[in-house]
Amino acid sequence: MAQSFPVQRTCPFAPPPEYERLREQAPLVRASLPGGEVWLVTRHAEAQQVLMGAGISTNPATPGHPNHLLSAEPLMPERLEALEQTAVGHFIDLDPPAHTRFRRLLIPEFTVRRVKELRPGIQRFTDQLIDDLLAGDGEAELVEAFGLALPSLVICQLLGVPYAEHEFFQSRTRLMLSAAKDPKAGFAAMMEIRSYLDELVTRAEASPEDDLLGRLINTGQLTHDELAGVIFLLLVAGHETTANMIPLAALTLMRHPDQLAALRADPSGWPMAVDELLRYHSIVDWVAFDRVATEDQKIGGQLVRKGEGIFVLGASANRDERVFERPDEFDAARGARHHVAFGYGVHQCLGQNLARAELEIALRTLFERIPTLRVTMADEDLPAKYDGFIFGLTALPVAW
Ligand code: HEM
Repeated sequence: MAQSFPVQRTCPFAPPPEYERLREQAPLVRASLPGGEVWLVTRHAEAQQVLMGAGISTNPATPGHPNHLLSAEPLMPERLEALEQTAVGHFIDLDPPAHTRFRRLLIPEFTVRRVKELRPGIQRFTDQLIDDLLAGDGEAELVEAFGLALPSLVICQLLGVPYAEHEFFQSRTRLMLSAAKDPKAGFAAMMEIRSYLDELVTRAEASPEDDLLGRLINTGQLTHDELAGVIFLLLVAGHETTANMIPLAALTLMRHPDQLAALRADPSGWPMAVDELLRYHSIVDWVAFDRVATEDQKIGGQLVRKGEGIFVLGASANRDERVFERPDEFDAARGARHHVAFGYGVHQCLGQNLARAELEIALRTLFERIPTLRVTMADEDLPAKYDGFIFGLTALPVAW
């Protein structure tokens, strides 16, 4: 019988408990959703094969694409229209060669070298936020004050949002990202951000500066709407992901004091620790890895037919015992860089160097400057987004 899907996480430190059984059962497992059936990819090798993208489409317009299966209801017409409007430049949803055109223009903006230039700014923002925490009364809530705040400042800087407009931008972004709580307010906030970005692009087009947006404009290869779409994608993709990872990672490190002490004694271990944290938490799971076969093909010995939908269970692939020894253990020194927390292949995270830098600087500085930091709530009481699209905590109360 087909597995009923989606299944939820039940603990901040692990994927949904069903994943282990599904991975054991087969590399591809049939699953049933309210709107129809899909293949779930449970293991690392097959996850990489699908994400490589040969004979596979990620475009929601491709027949058989599974992104509408979550609900048995068709989308409301006004939502559909708005989605179409915001699809231009949203290259995460495009297949090559349409996808390649955007990716080529964006890659130079996210190289290791470019991210190195951004590091002093990230360090400055981190220090400011920690100054604010330390100015308080020895207690804080880390999700709002640190996790969300840092990526938000970094994105504003990257996109060239003027300082005076930060507050508007950040408040609307927050509303949009909490859309699961209040879909109407989230949708309205999204439309407000879209029109704000439209204005931002118009201003930059009039006098392009030597920043990401200015350089994109100067290529002369993107239309106004495409530019606004690309900027919107960077905002969304780079925001909640990093924001959710920071508090979860801080929690895990506080629950493994020996490993944290080792990192504080030898900070050269941080980059490796960050990749292990990304693997261990795998906050982006099947929602991002929605695909459809565009030709008949064998995946893990299973025939997958053209037009059949596929969800890659990234969080299961990252716990595959065929690839990671003792996969359920957190081991900051394991060397987990071949995880699929940033995906793999054609759509592998464009911002991964930036995300790694943000996580490394945020975590290293937090524990350097507040060495006595501790969580003031039991793990089982910590509020988490068990029904969200991207996993994370909604609050992490701490004291020092
Ligand atoms: C794509 C994860 C941070 C920009 C992806 C994908 C994953 C991912 C799994 C692949 C989706 C797919 O296969 O369809 C993450 C995680 C992050 C993070 C876990 C932080 C911890 C960022 C940042 C940025 C960014 C900081 C930029 C500011 C993008 C973009 C894509 C992408 C533009 C689409 C790439 C394409 O389609 O070619 N990310 N991401 N991400 N990410 Fe990230």
